[in-house]
Amino acid sequence: MDQRYAGKGVIVTGAGSGIGRAVAERVAAEGGRVACLDLVADNAEATASAIGDAAVALSGDVSDWAQVQAAVGAATEAFGALDVLFNVAGIGAFDESHTVDPAKFEKILAVNLTGTFLMCRAVLPQMVERGRGAIVNTASTAGVMGQPWSAAYCASKGGVIQLTKALATEYDPPLCVNAVAPGGVETPLYGQFIPPEGGDWNRLKKMSRDNVPPAAPATLANAYAFLGSDEASYMTGSIVVVDGGITC
Ligand SMILES: NC(=O)c1ccc[n+]([C@@H]2O[C@H](COP(=O)([O-])OP(=O)(O)OC[C@H]3O[C@@H](n4cnc5c(N)ncnc54)[C@H](O)[C@@H]3O)[C@@H](O)[C@H]2O)c1
Repeated sequence: MDQRYAGKGVIVTGAGSGIGRAVAERVAAEGGRVACLDLVADNAEATASAIGDAAVALSGDVSDWAQVQAAVGAATEAFGALDVLFNVAGIGAFDESHTVDPAKFEKILAVNLTGTFLMCRAVLPQMVERGRGAIVNTASTAGVMGQPWSAAYCASKGGVIQLTKALATEYDPPLCVNAVAPGGVETPLYGQFIPPEGGDWNRLKKMSRDNVPPAAPATLANAYAFLGSDEASYMTGSIVVVDGGITC
């Protein structure tokens, strides 16, 4: 395997499961040193120990500024500097917009959108000082098209796309900020998107769930690993859709 991450310090949020775990494993396989951050400490540990000496496990909530600062501080201390941030942590569920608890709406925004920003906010000072770095955020096809029962999730992922573009206009390559927009991916989160009772499955038709099988997390890791590498040093503000053609 190419060693595109040799000598690099990397932090991956949501590294305890699904896409985040696949990204952490891929980057380590390409020579990177990886801080595996997750809300669930045991899962962060499991990913880090599967990787071995090149990884450290960190637990923390990306929507909490103090915890974000502590995690980025620990990762920076472990590796000397952070070259790449992969923002993968996220939550979601299907809820009818006329009955959803407003607190749930706010929680999804807090983790998916504010959490993504807080991680950027925490790593950017050292990237700005060094004049280089890569940030890869996680949007979704739900950020580029409507999805039923997903007001908060769609709003958060649309927000991640605009956050990514805003940062890309504020900083210049080789300090690059891009995002991956996955379609369906076979992870625990994917299984949580269950239509509400009586919900019409036909509303999901345009998401082509019946026609396009979900991808494996490792398939998504290909796009993340490219965007975080020097090979993508002329790309910034790009939203790379990896969805098996759902949105085409
Ligand atoms: N699975 C899909 O079909 C799909 C599609 C489009 C986008 N996405 C996005 O991909 C990303 C990864 O999702 P996944 O499918 O791998 O889900 P997953 O549930 O397998 O993994 C998400 C991880 O994020 C962690 N996490 C949740 N809240 C956190 C917080 N506040 N702080 C730190 N860590 C937290 C979880 O503990 C979990 O380990 C998410 O942003 C999700 O919205 C997933």
